[in-house]
Amino acid sequence: MSGSRSAKDFFRPLAVGAPTPLTEIPARPSRAIHFFDPSNPKMAAKVPDMVGTVDVLLGNLEDAIKADNKVAAREGLVEIAKKTEFGATQLWTRINALDSPWALDDLTTLVPAIGDKLDVVMVPKVQGAEDIHYVDRLLAQLEAKAGLDRPILVHAILETARGMANVEEICGASPRMQGVSLGPADLAADRRMKTTRVGGGHPGYLVREDPPSENGVANIEATRATFQQDLWHYTIARMVDACAMHGIYPYYGPFGDIADVIACEDQFRNAYLLGCVGAWSLHPKQIAIANKVFSPSVEDVAHARRVVAAMGDGTGAVMLDGKMEDDASLKQCLVMVELAEQLAA
Ligand code: GLV
Ligand code: MG
Repeated sequence: MSGSRSAKDFFRPLAVGAPTPLTEIPARPSRAIHFFDPSNPKMAAKVPDMVGTVDVLLGNLEDAIKADNKVAAREGLVEIAKKTEFGATQLWTRINALDSPWALDDLTTLVPAIGDKLDVVMVPKVQGAEDIHYVDRLLAQLEAKAGLDRPILVHAILETARGMANVEEICGASPRMQGVSLGPADLAADRRMKTTRVGGGHPGYLVREDPPSENGVANIEATRATFQQDLWHYTIARMVDACAMHGIYPYYGPFGDIADVIACEDQFRNAYLLGCVGAWSLHPKQIAIANKVFSPSVEDVAHARRVVAAMGDGTGAVMLDGKMEDDASLKQCLVMVELAEQLAA
C-alpha cells in the first residue's frame, strides 16, 4: 500500500448486512501475519520473494530480537521496506513495548522513513487505553511532519492481565485500531499460569469421564477417557466480543510448536469458529495453515449463498434442508459471504 491512495480511499464501509459496520478500517485480508526478523540477513533476503504469498509481512522489533540487535532490526526494516514493492501484501511492524528504551526510537525512525509503506503498527503488552492514546498522538504528529496522506493503523497485543481487564476500552481507544491479537506466552506468564509453551493446549488441562459404577460404587481405578480442554477459550471469546463491539478484527497470536502442524491447525480453527480473522505465522508452513483455516470453505460459502437467496427480503423464516432459517441465520451467512468476497477481491 503506498503513496497514491488517499485516506478517503483507504477507508471503505463494509457491505450492508455486516453485524457491525466497519467504517474506519480497511477491509483487507490478514489471515496470516508472518513474522520476520529484519536483523537477520538470511530472513530479510527472503522477504521480497514472500510478497504476494501472504496477506501480511511483519518486521518484528520486539521479543525474539536480542537487545544488541534492536537497532539493526529497525534499520533492516527500513532498508527492506524501501526496496520492496509490497503490492497487495500489507507491511506491519511490531514495535518494542512502550516501557522499553526502544519504542520511541522505533516510531520516530520508522514513520518518517517508511510511513508511506507501513500499514499497521503492532503494539505489544498494551495495558489500557492510555497506551493506545499515546501511540495515536505520536503517530499523528509524525505523520503530519512526514506529510503522509493516510493514517497508519494500530494493532494491540493482549498479553497482560491488566490489558485483558481493559480489553473493551483498548479496542475502542482510537479510530486507528485495526485489531487485537492474543499473546498467549506473555499472558500466561503475567497471569502466573503454570505452563511453559507459546500458545496451544496442555495435556494437564483436561476433563475426565465419570467413573463407571459397579453395584452402585464408583470405580475410580477404571480406565476413563480424558478430553483436553482449550486453555484460551475464555480469553479469545472475550477478545472477540470486545473487537466485535468496536468493529475491529480479532486474531489468534503465535503457536510456538512449529512441528505440530495438526495442533496448530486445531487452535487456529477454534479461533476462526469463535470469530477471529487470522493468526500469526512464525514459520512459512504456518502461512498455509492460516490461509486455509481462515478462508471459509467452498461448501460453507455455497450454503450461505443458498440461505441468502432463500431468505429473499431477509424477513420471516424459511425451511431449507429440514432446517429453519431466519433473520439471525441469514446474518451469519452474510458474514460468511462477505468474508469470501473480501478474500476474493
Ligand atoms: C506474543 O507476543 C506472546 O507473548 O505470546
Ligand atoms: Mg509477547
